[in-house]
Amino acid sequence: MTSPLRLGIAGLGTVGTGLVRIVQSHGDLLAQRAGRPIEIVAVSARSRTRNRGVDISDYDWEDDPVALARRTDIDVVVELMGGENGPAKALTEAAMAAGKHVVTANKAMLAIHGQELAEAAEAHGVALRFEAAVAGGIPVIKTLTEGLAGNRITRVKGVMNGTCNYILTRMEDAALPYETVFEEANQLGYLEADPTLDVGGIDAAHKLTLISAIAFGVRPDFDAIALEGIERISIEDIRAAADLGLRIKLLGVAQMTGRGLEQSMTPCLVPAESPLGQLKGGTNMVVIEGDSIEQVILRGPGAGEGPTASAVMGDVMDIARGFRLSVFGQPASTLEAPISAKAMGSKPWYMRMGLLDKPGALAKVAEALGSAGVSINRMRQYGHQDTRAPVLIITHKTTRDAIDHAIALALKTGVVIGEPVVMAIEED
Ligand code: HSE
Repeated sequence: MTSPLRLGIAGLGTVGTGLVRIVQSHGDLLAQRAGRPIEIVAVSARSRTRNRGVDISDYDWEDDPVALARRTDIDVVVELMGGENGPAKALTEAAMAAGKHVVTANKAMLAIHGQELAEAAEAHGVALRFEAAVAGGIPVIKTLTEGLAGNRITRVKGVMNGTCNYILTRMEDAALPYETVFEEANQLGYLEADPTLDVGGIDAAHKLTLISAIAFGVRPDFDAIALEGIERISIEDIRAAADLGLRIKLLGVAQMTGRGLEQSMTPCLVPAESPLGQLKGGTNMVVIEGDSIEQVILRGPGAGEGPTASAVMGDVMDIARGFRLSVFGQPASTLEAPISAKAMGSKPWYMRMGLLDKPGALAKVAEALGSAGVSINRMRQYGHQDTRAPVLIITHKTTRDAIDHAIALALKTGVVIGEPVVMAIEED
């Protein structure tokens, strides 16, 4: 056997603890596969004494994660602290400057600073790997950078936040309102410390940013993603969708079109019988379309100790085996600034609104849609609630701009109560 690969782990939360567990329990298996032992040399975390259910007494302790990164007896720094700036970024930069490879699960840091960190990794001749940052245990980064490297990728879409998928499926299955299920998810520990990261779609958009960079050879550009969370989805929307044979998902879509790169992370309706429509609970799914493979669907656990630590370990194993790859699958200098499509392509839209229950109200809304060039495909009016008539409209394919124009005109009529809910329907 050759020399061991020596790890320093910064962050001993759920994922860090899971990584320690894998190294301790699978030592022989990992050494056989890598052709060399994998050893943990030092760790750093907020609390030295917290009971994590794993024995860390054999490892050196560093209070300062940056000091851990600079140790001369470490080959790979595993960054599991999180946060887009602060200690995580300082540690990553220090480790790479000291010639160490870095494995991270930090989607926020890479979505915001990915380009400069990729350039730094190349300048220092080290690996910067992040499989665990995207869709937990699903090897989506390896699939895109390696297995599908011979394809021109045309579209990637998927459910990339398990917490949102849990909330939406639980609302439907238990007929519970958003607020109740949100609190349930909180009690179960599913929510990030800042829940907006989950329900605001930010965590999922970070992941989509990294997927897009690899799939389309563009610089990571989080701000280019059209973003909307699930906070406004009500049980009425869930019921209406079910009535139409559809389900609501927080769906990420990145596709290269003649107009440029379209990227969105928004609540969308998908056919209930489709693979995405069937996805339940905290599971993630990524659908990749390429010119040679047509379609590949990856499905699996998007979070949790075992799955995320498994993804970290996969990256560590690649480094142990001597496998090197550009951070985003091609040299950082060749990543292009994404040309964002100014407007999304045409698709069918779902609109739910409350109308004043008086003669001519529906006609005024239909007139507004017609004036904006939006054609109605299907329409339903549900049982009246006090003086409000809930109305559901499915349009023929049209642009978001046309929908926004139609809604602005509808609001001017004075018959619409509150803000209409609008979602794209992703049929294929
Ligand atoms: N909070 C995330 C999710 C896991 O629910 O999918 C880490 O990104």
